[in-house]
Amino acid sequence: MGASNLVIDYTHMMADTIGNENGISTGDLRDSLEKACAAASAVRAAVEGKRLGFCKLPFNRSLVEEVGSVADQLAAAVDNFVVLGIGGSALGNSALHAALNHPYYNLLPRERRGNRPRIFVLDNVDPEFVAGTMDLLDLERTAINVITKSGSTAETMAQCLLFLSTMEKRLGKKKLRERVIATTDPQKGALRELALREGYRLLPVPEDVGGRFSVLSAVGLLSAAVSGIDIGELLEGARLVHEASTKSEVSSNPALALALLYYLASTRRGKSIAVMMPYCNALLGVADWFRQLWAESLGKKLDRSGRVVNAGQTPIKALGATDQHSQIQLYMEGPCDKMVTFIGVREYRRDVPIPRPPASDNAFDYLSGQTMNALIRAEQKATALALAHNGRPNMTIELSSVTPRTVGMLLYMFEMQTALAAELLGIDAFDQPGVEHGKKLTYAMMGRRGYDEMRKETERMERDRSSSYVIEL
Ligand code: PA5
Repeated sequence: MGASNLVIDYTHMMADTIGNENGISTGDLRDSLEKACAAASAVRAAVEGKRLGFCKLPFNRSLVEEVGSVADQLAAAVDNFVVLGIGGSALGNSALHAALNHPYYNLLPRERRGNRPRIFVLDNVDPEFVAGTMDLLDLERTAINVITKSGSTAETMAQCLLFLSTMEKRLGKKKLRERVIATTDPQKGALRELALREGYRLLPVPEDVGGRFSVLSAVGLLSAAVSGIDIGELLEGARLVHEASTKSEVSSNPALALALLYYLASTRRGKSIAVMMPYCNALLGVADWFRQLWAESLGKKLDRSGRVVNAGQTPIKALGATDQHSQIQLYMEGPCDKMVTFIGVREYRRDVPIPRPPASDNAFDYLSGQTMNALIRAEQKATALALAHNGRPNMTIELSSVTPRTVGMLLYMFEMQTALAAELLGIDAFDQPGVEHGKKLTYAMMGRRGYDEMRKETERMERDRSSSYVIEL
């Protein structure tokens, strides 16, 4: 166990540790084994039938070559690399960058960034955020990566139009071509057409890989490679988890174990909220990425047979030790509707010793001669134990350290966990009808052709709104 890259300890999820009211009993586990086996078989069949697109990504070595070479060319040519995307077309980029680069990467001088460009992920259309980011960029030394699977998401395309027009004025059409990479569906979509017409380089989002499962495709890999992250190692980590993920035994398939524990906690013990709490700033982006993965994949009205189930567990992210001073009071004594997954790190990439206090000060003696590393690990263990003593279910995923390989393992394990949880719930993890509806309403409000009826409907609703429910100051 000491040498493992990734360890899951779910002792504090179990009834014999935290009691029957909130803990999962061995009987619960036994009763669900058949269901778990069926879920694993269904996923295995989909993998073998090549129907689960994200499962092919760890084996796509030619993509690593292609992305690596594009990234190296760009890294030599520019100082800023800007990702334009939203949701699954942005969160993976942010997660990788936060996990595997220096915490203040963009503020370091270029030589301390491995001679690589600064990385920006523009995942919103808040005008202050967009304009504020542009204030920082010398557009003559900037490349953009427009990422949209559908090729038409309003937020991304609005940003894209802004950058294309501003950059063209500075660089001219010819030079601009070298600075734009469009990552989109390989067969269709408005962005693809635009890129073909204008001569921008295209990278694929495989047809059978949806946004939130696309971090290990060109979507997440290009910005990672531009910043010098070893993307081959990321995929190697994913491949290692893939090998285990086709097994039917919970004890040797971490993704299946997680899927089952989350499923039982939510459906048998009423834990409708899943908190993910890394004790590592670098992994907060992974928790944010997981939030989307879990919410959009499992938050579904209908099951596969069309029955209304309103499935889903609300994912929350928190950061240890910071949020011990903000959230833990609630987790400890508030409604018992949460399960907490801690993510810990055995070896942090830096050691920070805590120096001796001034001679006369005994109050801090216990800290002196210790390290921040020991302190944060003690805080994590203490929080997990305190929750368990209070009968609050929690588990810990421990990484040996944060490396491209372990991050690849973590991301892929969560993707697989999500696919398996969807099987257990009997729902489709890969559609997002709720998101689509909002996208269409936005198109309608912004006057997109073909959405006239919807626009009239939204205008009617606006007109009919009662002013008695509006408070003004
Ligand atoms: O996971 C998903 O499918 C979504 O979150 C999408 O990534 C998001 O809506 C952006 O869509 P697109 O990549 O088509 O611009």
